[in-house]
This record gives sequence, C-alpha cells and structure tokens, in this order.
Amino acid sequence: MLSADPCIGEVLLSDEQIQARVREIGEQLTIEYAGRAPLMVCVLRGAYSFLTDLSRSIDLPVEIDFIAVSSYGSSTRTSGVVRLVKDLDVDLTGRDVILIEDIVDTGLTLRYLRRSLEARGPNSLEVCTLLARESADLEGLGVKYVGFTIPGDFVIGYGLDVDERYRNLRYLASYEPQDDA
Ligand code: IMP
Repeated sequence: MLSADPCIGEVLLSDEQIQARVREIGEQLTIEYAGRAPLMVCVLRGAYSFLTDLSRSIDLPVEIDFIAVSSYGSSTRTSGVVRLVKDLDVDLTGRDVILIEDIVDTGLTLRYLRRSLEARGPNSLEVCTLLARESADLEGLGVKYVGFTIPGDFVIGYGLDVDERYRNLRYLASYEPQDDA
C-alpha cells in the first residue's frame, strides 16, 4: 500500500491546510480578475492537482490549457536544462494569462516559461505557484501568488513526484529515500 511506503516522510502540509490556502488564493484571483476571463496555463505534470482545485475555487469564466517542460529527468536534482515537452494549444495574444506552477526552486523552469509565454503577446502574465523555496528570488522572478514557502528538502505529494510516483497523495510530505530502495 502507498500509505505504508517508508519513503513517505513527515507530513509538511495536510490536505486541509492545502485546501484552505487554495480556496484563499481562488477568492483573491476572483476579485483581482473580476470582469475578465483569465487563461490558466498549467505546467505539467506537477501542477495538475493545484490547477484542478484552484480552478474550482475561482468564480469566473476561466479557460485552461497545459504546457509541459522537463528539467529533472528521473532524479531529484535539476539537469540544468529545460526542454519543452508539450506546447499550448491556445493562442495567447491579448489574453490574461495565469501560469500555474507546483514549486519554484531554482527558478530555471520559470525563467524559461516566462520568456516563452511573454513572446506570444499576452495582455498580462502572472505566476501562481503552490510552493516556493525560501531561497527562491520571487521578486526577481515576478511571482505574484504563492501558496506556501518551504525549506530546501525534497517534497512529494499533491502532484509532486519522484520518478512519477507519489503524485496522488492528498498531502505534501518530505521524501525519505531508503538506502536499499
Ligand atoms: P526549478 O526550475 O529549479 O525552479 O524547478 C522547478 C521544477 O522542479 C518544479 O516544477 C518541479 O517539477 C521540480 N521540483 C523542484 N523541487 C521539487 C520537489 O521538492 N519535489 C518534486 N519536484 C520538485
């Protein structure tokens, strides 16, 4: 059973804590984007849970599209190179775009995405991330909406993975690699 997996460490954010914060951000976006129909761009795959819950907390006619990038390969360390794996289907010209991220760590992924999306002529582009490392330069990266700030340890759950596992946990936990795993 997944719940008995020893790699799942301490619960850092419970289901309830996450849902309460996601609702708050949804209410804030509902106010700040009133009268508009923002396009939520979900960065696959890690942000899918956040996108799902957040979009349902926004009382506006939002649209949704997906983009996929890869920078981690199959390890818990960044490769330092960002690669576009799946591009958007929707034209961004004149749109109010909200980029939905799972976690801003070094900011490499975000810098790449921002450059790519800004070049497509949106009316506005804001970044909304569930998590940000304490070390991340959020101001420099132009991140407006942040769910939680966390320390440097690798985390899993609520969309975040190690080798594609643990995304389906409802909570966020620390990752405890086992020597014999
Ligand atoms: P950055 O480019 O270094 O900011 O890394 C951003 C991406 O790395 C995120 O979108 C995640 O996919 C991945 N990532 C960074 N830290 C973690 C973590 O603790 N758990 C799972 N994925 C992570």
